[in-house]
Amino acid sequence: MEDRLARRHFITTADWKVEELEQLFQTAADFKERFKRGELTPVLQNLTLFMLFFEQSTRTRNSFEAGMTQLGGHAHDLTPDKMQISHGETPYDTGAVLSRYGHAIGIRNCFWKLGNRYIRDVARGASVPVFNLQCDWYHPCQAAADLMTVRERFGAEELRGRKFVVSWAYAPSYQKPLSVPQSLILLMPRFGMDVVLAHPPEFSLRPELLQQAQGLAKAAGTRFEIVHDMDAAFEGAHVVYPKSWGCMLHTEDLEESAAVAARYKSWICDDSRMALAASECAYMHCLPADRGHEVTDAVIDGSQSIVFDEAENRLHVQKALMALTMTGDKRGEY
Ligand code: CP
Repeated sequence: MEDRLARRHFITTADWKVEELEQLFQTAADFKERFKRGELTPVLQNLTLFMLFFEQSTRTRNSFEAGMTQLGGHAHDLTPDKMQISHGETPYDTGAVLSRYGHAIGIRNCFWKLGNRYIRDVARGASVPVFNLQCDWYHPCQAAADLMTVRERFGAEELRGRKFVVSWAYAPSYQKPLSVPQSLILLMPRFGMDVVLAHPPEFSLRPELLQQAQGLAKAAGTRFEIVHDMDAAFEGAHVVYPKSWGCMLHTEDLEESAAVAARYKSWICDDSRMALAASECAYMHCLPADRGHEVTDAVIDGSQSIVFDEAENRLHVQKALMALTMTGDKRGEY
């Protein structure tokens, strides 16, 4: 394993160089092959991952826990009520203490204006790698699994010039974080794709991250543009990723945000929209999807959908993340 990645945090993919992310994808592909062959890969034998979830999770929780088992280690499934966090223990202290017991800390905290700061504060106190399992700003493990899936679909060397559409879609279930679209626009342009972000005007993403995405696209020789028309975005697309997120930058009032979202119920991914895209277009969603609102059953269950490949690749890319960051020459110092 590459020692340069030992003990590295993974809070946003933008903190990692393209060649470091390449190492992640190559390692993930290797783990995937070995998993399919039924080969055991106990490279983290007896090591511990602490997983701290402030919110619910199906994919992240189970893919990290299963992944850690497959690597020969153990993952603790923690929630704030099981810890002194509920009595006000600081994130710095939690990071310092868990670092004395184990080998990495993963955190999901999507609380608006708090989650990313919490994870960064744990990382300040930690002497082991800290993984962002989703915050109010980023979901790097999801974006990495998504890119792995796109590379498998089109070929890692065949992405330049592909049109990747990140579109808002209507969902009544809850005010979903901005983290998935923000992580997608930061990652995909660095790997050759032209990214189009589509949303109604009230559903803007964080301005500093839009600027960062623009800069990353420019540096990579790709394009990043924003439109407010779902149909226009879908025209000729090679990948569409329509999902809901909240209008937190427009209003923090939940009732008002639900009313704003309800104006855009027509923002659904259906067969007529898929027909606007390229014939080989892939439909993606991080899941859980609001079926019948964000997407029709016909599309998400159809032949262009690769949602379960994305979900599966969470396992492989996170095993690679853990193996690369929790091992190395410095392992003996843990
Ligand atoms: N996509 C994703 O992160 O799913 P969970 O919320 O179930 O972890």
